[in-house]
Amino acid sequence: MWVFIFRLIDWIAKKVERVLVNWLIRTLSCGPIPKHIAIIMDGNRRYASKLGLADRRLGHYHGYDRFETVLNWCLRLGVKCVTVYAFSVENFKRSPEEVETLMTLAAEKLEKLASRRDIIDRHGVSIRIIGELGMLPEKVRNVAIKAMYATSHHSNYILNICFPFVSRLEMERATKMFNEWKQDPEMSMIEDQVLFRGCLDTFDSPDIDILIRTSGEWRLSEFLLYQLCTSPNCHSFFIDKMWPEFSIIEFGKILLRYQSRVTERSSLSVNLPAKIMQARKKQYADLFATADFELIGR
Ligand code: FPP
Ligand code: MG
Repeated sequence: MWVFIFRLIDWIAKKVERVLVNWLIRTLSCGPIPKHIAIIMDGNRRYASKLGLADRRLGHYHGYDRFETVLNWCLRLGVKCVTVYAFSVENFKRSPEEVETLMTLAAEKLEKLASRRDIIDRHGVSIRIIGELGMLPEKVRNVAIKAMYATSHHSNYILNICFPFVSRLEMERATKMFNEWKQDPEMSMIEDQVLFRGCLDTFDSPDIDILIRTSGEWRLSEFLLYQLCTSPNCHSFFIDKMWPEFSIIEFGKILLRYQSRVTERSSLSVNLPAKIMQARKKQYADLFATADFELIGR
């Protein structure tokens, strides 16, 4: 009897949420839509503790489910680019069991995500795994590259998954690339700021409009530091809820606040010079060739 009542309540709650999501997305679509939302998904383990789960690592599974849900809201709204912090280089300092859980979760989910027709193909999303790919275990790195390759023909939306990432190392790599490109006569004609932007992992992503961090922490944890500093109109939101609890209500409130504050000077869509785009495309083609799977024509 109780099982039936709980199931009924769950069914009603899901129905109500679906109606609310549809209504909010329709309403928000009438206002200005951010081009780039960046998210620090924090609080997975505290959420697991709150639920009373014996193993706090289970919080990451709930975190992944929320990530897919929020990605879906963003795509339905037409947000061109979403960047999520899925693993910081600092996270390698966690227990080997937890690192292993996060790696296994990522490998399993990335493989599935890349072939999701309802999210990735329908909207035309190019998945980019950005950061220090060389630090990943070979199997995970291979899946990451495969996910990028499988979606590299999409150009409507960009999903940047920082895994594993810290800005310090991204800027080191970008500076090295910048110095190399400066030796090329054609590249050196390009304005320094534009050239440096072209060297970042987020080279063709628009400026960031909205930064969200959950779990009540007010830190940036080396997430997209250069991009945040150079995005002239980035609005930051630090939310008290844990990441798996981040609901359509919080998301809707953030979007409404953004829409009421946004000015004419909203974000830039980058138009990088063709020479930079060609060089980056070539780097990706070289990366795909290093992975252990068959490259098929599309
Ligand atoms: C922070 O919570 C979360 C992480 C370190 C991992 C985030 C990963 C996911 C949500 C899965 C996404 C995976 C892909 C492939 C997109 P925490 O562990 O710091 O929790 P706490 O702040 O409560 O300790
Ligand atoms: Mg945390």
